[in-house]
Amino acid sequence: MAGLVIVGAQWGDEGKGKVVDLLAEQADLVIRFQGGNNAGHTIVRDGETFKFHLIPSGILYPGKLCAIGNGVVVDPKVLTEEIAELSRRRIDMSGLRISANAHLIMPYHKLLDHAGESQLGKLQIGTTRRGIGPCYADKAARLGIRMQDLLDEKILRKKIYTALEPKRLMLRPFAKDPELDLHTMSEEYRILGHRLEPYIADTPPIAWRVIDQGGLVVFEGAQGALLDIDHGTYPFVTSSNTVAGAACAGAGVGPRSIDDVWGIAKAYATRVGAGPFPTELDEALGERLREAGGEFGTTTGRPRRTGWIDLVALRYATRINGFTGLVVTKLDVLTGIDPLYVGVRYLGPEGATFDEFPYHQSIVHKVQGDLIELPGWHEDISGVRSMDELPANAQSYLEFISDYLDVPIVMVGVGPARDEMIWTGAAERLRPAAA
Ligand code: IMP
Repeated sequence: MAGLVIVGAQWGDEGKGKVVDLLAEQADLVIRFQGGNNAGHTIVRDGETFKFHLIPSGILYPGKLCAIGNGVVVDPKVLTEEIAELSRRRIDMSGLRISANAHLIMPYHKLLDHAGESQLGKLQIGTTRRGIGPCYADKAARLGIRMQDLLDEKILRKKIYTALEPKRLMLRPFAKDPELDLHTMSEEYRILGHRLEPYIADTPPIAWRVIDQGGLVVFEGAQGALLDIDHGTYPFVTSSNTVAGAACAGAGVGPRSIDDVWGIAKAYATRVGAGPFPTELDEALGERLREAGGEFGTTTGRPRRTGWIDLVALRYATRINGFTGLVVTKLDVLTGIDPLYVGVRYLGPEGATFDEFPYHQSIVHKVQGDLIELPGWHEDISGVRSMDELPANAQSYLEFISDYLDVPIVMVGVGPARDEMIWTGAAERLRPAAA
């Protein structure tokens, strides 16, 4: 296993952070390949809490190579703060590399994200308002400013001017915002560039070298399959490709460098922001899942919408990603809920049924999950470390999912702590010594 891609299989927040953190110990390089500081996760290490938005949490292993790939959009203010905070806590940052080709989130991207959402009114996407969409839009429009531009004052100023001018009309409500002054912005970003310079690198060759030497590269995705800009529930999606294929473009390696793709799915489902959610629970049980699972956004603090696991959407995610393994997280949150339900097809208007994820937006918005009942369990499973120790009903629940998707389950989360994880099959040899 030289290249392992970790991606979200649902609507994000599946617990990728913890999985990548555990795998990082064995990895020679962890590289993020898309998204920006719309993602986030919290890691508790030796009683200390660390919050990550851009830097792979593998950085907590001294000297571990952790890269931010070219496919990521970087808010340099957020990144410098993250670096400063980790350095203040004496974390060794020598392994951090930031792609010189990664695009920068600029102050006007954040303002445009706010303005865009306000203008949409009731139709708003519910973005994280971190400027992600406008930044990717500038990238595609060839008006983007990249990490490498921070290193040349003249180029930086010229590029900011060129990018800013066509937006003046849209930015009119913020005309007096000092952040938008060309000189102030150029100066601020030049200083940020100085601070980031030691970490800016040509990242693809770093990945090639590790792969050539037979090492392990973990490609860390953000968000989830149903938030993919092409394959998700457009327009209620993020602005990048979140599927495993994006690891190649976003890190600069070819598809032959990918050996395994593990999808991370919660034992139930959640979504933040607007958009269709066929198995959504909006009554007391939904609230119970939200409370039991601590389902509030790491980045925005927003309460997450909750629902039953949606196997139609998960099978679709399996196909568009090519999962070779499935990690089921937060199984313990379902303990005590009996019976359980899983969505196995969709029911549309006028008696229509859908076994596959419908491509048409109007249909996806109207369907509801057709649920089947499975027996729950009541035993505390947080101490369980092997599949055969799980209560029979928990085993059947996982088997049902694995059979439906035709993908082996490689890990199962049974609690929030680092060691509260079952490692099976292909994952076994990547298990860290302490887990
Ligand atoms: P954006 O990525 O900020 O543009 O937001 C677009 C959509 O993706 C919104 O519905 C967000 O709530 C959702 N989103 C973005 N990042 C995450 C994430 O890390 N987890 C869950 N949802 C996310």
